[in-house]
Amino acid sequence: MKQKESFMAGEADAWFLRNTSSDTTFSLDDFVKKDPALVYLLNQSEEPGKVLEIGAANGYRLAAIKSAFADATCVGVEPSALAVEQGNKAYPNIDLRRGVASDLTSFSAGQFNTVIFGFCLYLCDREDLFKIAAEADRVLADGGRIIIWDFYSTVPFQNHYTPKHGLHSYKMDYAKMFLWNPAYSLEMQKTINSDPAWHPDHNYGLSVLRKRTKGAFIENPYSK
Ligand SMILES: C[S@@+](CC[C@H](N)C(=O)[O-])C[C@H]1O[C@@H](n2cnc3c(N)ncnc32)[C@H](O)[C@@H]1O
Repeated sequence: MKQKESFMAGEADAWFLRNTSSDTTFSLDDFVKKDPALVYLLNQSEEPGKVLEIGAANGYRLAAIKSAFADATCVGVEPSALAVEQGNKAYPNIDLRRGVASDLTSFSAGQFNTVIFGFCLYLCDREDLFKIAAEADRVLADGGRIIIWDFYSTVPFQNHYTPKHGLHSYKMDYAKMFLWNPAYSLEMQKTINSDPAWHPDHNYGLSVLRKRTKGAFIENPYSK
């Protein structure tokens, strides 16, 4: 069974039940201080516009974005049926749908200005990474941003996913999924380590990538 099938079949609900309190009220002020993706957005003059968060859980980050940017349209994709149901009830001004990162077919090309990978890439099947990048690129408008908040490691490595035998979590520099393409540039990358012993398992990265197809290829600079 693929990892995404396990998540759709119940592992995502299990994650949600383990990690989310039924209290969906939160103080934006408190949240802002601890969420690097939101802190980044709040410090930019650019509005997030139409936002898609992939692996959105119950949409709490999207709800905070909507509170901060009234004109934003916030959509989330998440495999947990429980999280989607709870989030859609708690935050009626966002739109959460069940799904996985490798299949964004319910969205049209160029529909979003900001695509956020909300700490979900580390759980995705490795054989899906190209498809996931292609789907994010398809739904992202030219000029838009991809924000990746996830584990970060310069050396790719895997761990057993302790809650479920047979699954893995994977750590790498996920910005590399896009940066081979000259249409993508890295606007910002920040890493933090929450462990005083600086163990690589506790390394997190926030990467912001810009998509610009125009000008990605310059005129031939080589004389004939
Ligand atoms: C660590 S949680 C992060 C939740 C939230 N975005 C955050 O930043 O707190 C990972 C989320 O990714 C979801 N997930 C797992 N596999 C996924 C996949 N293939 N595609 C999209 N989301 C997935 C999980 O159900 C879970 O809600």
